Amino acid sequence: MTESAKTLTTSPASPLESLQKTTFSRRSALFGAAALLSTVAPRQLLAAVPASTAPISGPILLNSNENPYGPSPAARQAILQSVSESCRYGDKAIGTLMEAIAAHDQLPVDHLILGSGSGELLRMAALLAADGNRDGEVIAATPTYEELPVFATVLGLRVVTVPLNAKHQHDLPAMQAAITDKTRLVYICNPNNPTATVVGFAALEQFMRAVPSKILVLIDEAYFDFITDAAAGSVISWVKTYPNLIVTRTFSKIHGLAGLRMGYAYAHPTLATRLTEKQLVFPNIAGLRAAIASLNDARFLKNTRATLIADRTRIENAIDQLGLTRTASQSNFVFFDVKQPHADFHKKMLAHNLMVGRHFAGYDQWARITVGLSSEVDRLLAALPHAI
Ligand SMILES: Cc1ncc(COP(=O)(O)O)c(C=O)c1O
Repeated sequence: MTESAKTLTTSPASPLESLQKTTFSRRSALFGAAALLSTVAPRQLLAAVPASTAPISGPILLNSNENPYGPSPAARQAILQSVSESCRYGDKAIGTLMEAIAAHDQLPVDHLILGSGSGELLRMAALLAADGNRDGEVIAATPTYEELPVFATVLGLRVVTVPLNAKHQHDLPAMQAAITDKTRLVYICNPNNPTATVVGFAALEQFMRAVPSKILVLIDEAYFDFITDAAAGSVISWVKTYPNLIVTRTFSKIHGLAGLRMGYAYAHPTLATRLTEKQLVFPNIAGLRAAIASLNDARFLKNTRATLIADRTRIENAIDQLGLTRTASQSNFVFFDVKQPHADFHKKMLAHNLMVGRHFAGYDQWARITVGLSSEVDRLLAALPHAI
């Protein structure tokens, strides 16, 4: 390891980690679970729940773009308090969360749809695209997040894949050129998973103007909170202008609530109603309460974003010092050329107890790594020079 690489590998615990530093053992996890079954008050329960989210056993998980700082302190408390509400359906909390999200985003609540994670909303959109025309087509980039394209295929739709451009971004002109009479939906993941790249407002607007309004366009903003490029960002307000636009969001990333399955989407009210008709899952009370609390935990969201972006920069600097090619990440993960078959790199990182992302088609020698806790990033930076 070079001296400069070495200096990058050690960092003081991030403010977030210091806040959360509590040992998380199998014993404390069992104690937490047992306490949940008892009748003690939420305050006592909270004391029994470990704050650290390090895995109980096995490798450090840098493979699924989760946020290990979550749930926020307020969300943890809300989850515990929801235990006593669990015998009730969550109707009232659904209304509360919807009002809170819409107020937060300054959009009318009739433009909003909740989902069991944004994954359910992606599938609902595919169901809508398949309605009455199973020989229809969906256009998606490759590689991109596959939940919608894969489900569309299951529904009998044909998925037309369009390679990313030389900057590893969605090639919107090529996607526009791929539109035919059979096209029912175009999926745009922005920032894109796995490349972490974005397309800016100008290119997206040009695309939206060119797409016939009978074709659905779904813009997936799962990672929009990590965008730092001023020319790119959220387009939720555009649903007022484009009746064919669906924008999906999730509580799984910046909010750190992946396991509680909460997501939402915006669309024009007519489209929102059609989409809601495809819903299968009724939201759970713990997820609803956690999402409400997390939305209001501005301090946690601000600190999480700042910490993850600072650690993203640390990883990108280390990749640069190793002379490797990477994309400019606008997300909570990095994507770079590891100059060897993905499987070899994956194996070497596992030997350092680090689980990195899977292989992606067309990028046989590239790897996707999620920004973990600051201490996990230290471990990653120490291991990286040995795996290249
Ligand atoms: C781009 C993108 N969209 C959507 C999702 C689905 O997230 P969830 O269903 O947890 O909201 C993911 C999950 O990793 C993702 O990467």
